[in-house]
Amino acid sequence: MSAAPVRLPASYTLIRLDEVGSTNAEALRRAAEGAAAGTVVWARCQSEGRGRRGRLWVSPPGNLYCSIVFRPSRAPAAQLSYVAAVALAEALEPLAAPGAVRLKWPNDVLLNGGKISGILLEGGTGHVVLGTGVNVATHPADEARALRPTSLAAEGAEVTVEAILDAYLDHLAAWVSRWEAAGFAPVRTAWLGRAVGLGEPIEVRLPTETIPGRFTGLDDDGVLLLATEGGTRRFAAGDVFVLSGEGAHAARH
Ligand code: BTN
Repeated sequence: MSAAPVRLPASYTLIRLDEVGSTNAEALRRAAEGAAAGTVVWARCQSEGRGRRGRLWVSPPGNLYCSIVFRPSRAPAAQLSYVAAVALAEALEPLAAPGAVRLKWPNDVLLNGGKISGILLEGGTGHVVLGTGVNVATHPADEARALRPTSLAAEGAEVTVEAILDAYLDHLAAWVSRWEAAGFAPVRTAWLGRAVGLGEPIEVRLPTETIPGRFTGLDDDGVLLLATEGGTRRFAAGDVFVLSGEGAHAARH
């Protein structure tokens, strides 16, 4: 792990590890043993990085892998993934062209249409762990992924892992305070302002069905609203594919 300093907001305690299976698993283990809210587990690399839906998150040195323990007073804790996405977008925006950082439901952060980050919220008893991976130096091979992976380096942004972690934790502390004080409304506004596919035709793909419709927004809890021929449908989970318009580059079939 680099010796470069990380300026930590007062609300966090940093645990630096060289290699770990998964920072999420490690943070969940520590939280179950009583680790305080604000404990940040940060690893140089992961041997068993976890993605959504049981996928592997390829985790060589050079990228950011961190997991933060929360003991949220607000429910539903699932809104934390929106809080995190907005905070990470704000951390990345100074490195990118205006409008180049976008958010894709449920919790992907895109840069120039490629997936630059993944967010994985996992729950335990009385705590949740917010895991974030950012492709700083490298990204996985394209293969047959629905969303083209990319990295900050590949998009021409020269920045260290430490600087991204600094900026992310700063913005996250500010957004968590806002969320706790004012609820989901400001988070939703900030998230929708960067949303891919808003107002456009999309498909929501579930393991058992694919539902076409128009992405009209998020409800008060962060549930996706889809206008379909049969009326508005609501989704708390799934994958979104943008079918046309400005966001279509974010999805491939
Ligand atoms: C996704 O599939 O998009 C979510 C990926 C989340 C990866 C991060 S890396 C840090 C933390 N530890 C893990 O094992 N996963 C998350």
